[in-house]
Amino acid sequence: MTLDATFSEPAPVVLTGGTSGVGLRTAGRLVRAGHHVVLTGTRPTGVARAADATGATGVVLDLASPASVDRAADEILARTGGRLGAVLLNAGTQVSAPTATPDGLEITIAVNHVGHVQLWERLRAAALVDRLVITSSGTHDPAQRTGMPEPLPMVLDDLVRPPAPGITASLQRYPTSKLANVLTAYEIARRSPRTTVVAYDPGLMPGTGLVRHQPTWFRTVWRGLGPLLAVLPRVTTPAASSRHLAALADGSRDVPTGVYVSGGRVVASSVASRDEEVARRLYDDTLALVERRRAAVG
Ligand SMILES: NC(=O)c1ccc[n+]([C@@H]2O[C@H](COP(=O)([O-])OP(=O)(O)OC[C@H]3O[C@@H](n4cnc5c(N)ncnc54)[C@H](OP(=O)(O)O)[C@@H]3O)[C@@H](O)[C@H]2O)c1
Repeated sequence: MTLDATFSEPAPVVLTGGTSGVGLRTAGRLVRAGHHVVLTGTRPTGVARAADATGATGVVLDLASPASVDRAADEILARTGGRLGAVLLNAGTQVSAPTATPDGLEITIAVNHVGHVQLWERLRAAALVDRLVITSSGTHDPAQRTGMPEPLPMVLDDLVRPPAPGITASLQRYPTSKLANVLTAYEIARRSPRTTVVAYDPGLMPGTGLVRHQPTWFRTVWRGLGPLLAVLPRVTTPAASSRHLAALADGSRDVPTGVYVSGGRVVASSVASRDEEVARRLYDDTLALVERRRAAVG
């Protein structure tokens, strides 16, 4: 081992969605293990609070806004340099009524998928990245019978159009975005062989902020579900899931590139998620959409 290797610090970790839930726990865990973590969140106060609580560096990022994504990417790169140990694309949202970004895209697809691809492209163009983890969900796979509607076909133009009113149509964008996350992880693994890329399912974690845009009855059930469901196999806690995510981030959980990890184990993702032609087209269409949005904001 060289002197440099003995004394070198681990390369920084970038974590989106670090202000609550599994992201906040993962940031704290990684900082305690000696990593420089840059966490993001949408609100300056929430970001400052999470940065104080964990010892991470905070950056404001709204994945719904292409201008915010580019600004945040520049700030992250300025605070980290040309080498990143891991990028954890973990932020997520879920809605139950048609909701659009200021430039008219359906919010769940825009935040969970499009904004993350934009951020990733900007980071990987300027830094060497050892590991990329994209947080998906078991809901991407209809065979898992999670109770969520089935993902829609991966036609990006249709997915970014806000749906008709109705809770199911809006909720359906969530498992759809999570299928896009898995397809995207596998596609990046093929395009960036230097980076180890993982799609990660943290398991069902009742009580997190994920349902903050849902009606009151939904949020009440979500908060109360934890103790009732704790005995079921796929139910877990943000603290437990953060252990697996942190281990994927620092490489102590060593996995091959292009795999899906659930409950800490490499398992098969859905049949639809393994369609390489669909993944290639989705990624190319997403890159084109990112450029159109940039051009539109000038
Ligand atoms: N909870 C579950 O049961 C479950 C199950 C499977 C997968 N997941 C996935 O796990 C990930 C973390 O979820 P969680 O349950 O920990 O939820 P959470 O507590 O709500 O955390 C979500 C994070 O995403 C950020 N975020 C939301 N909208 C954003 C936007 N427009 N731009 C940038 N960041 C945004 C939030 O930041 P602000 O607070 O600053 O807005 C927050 O830090 C998500 O990808 C979710 O889909 C969750």
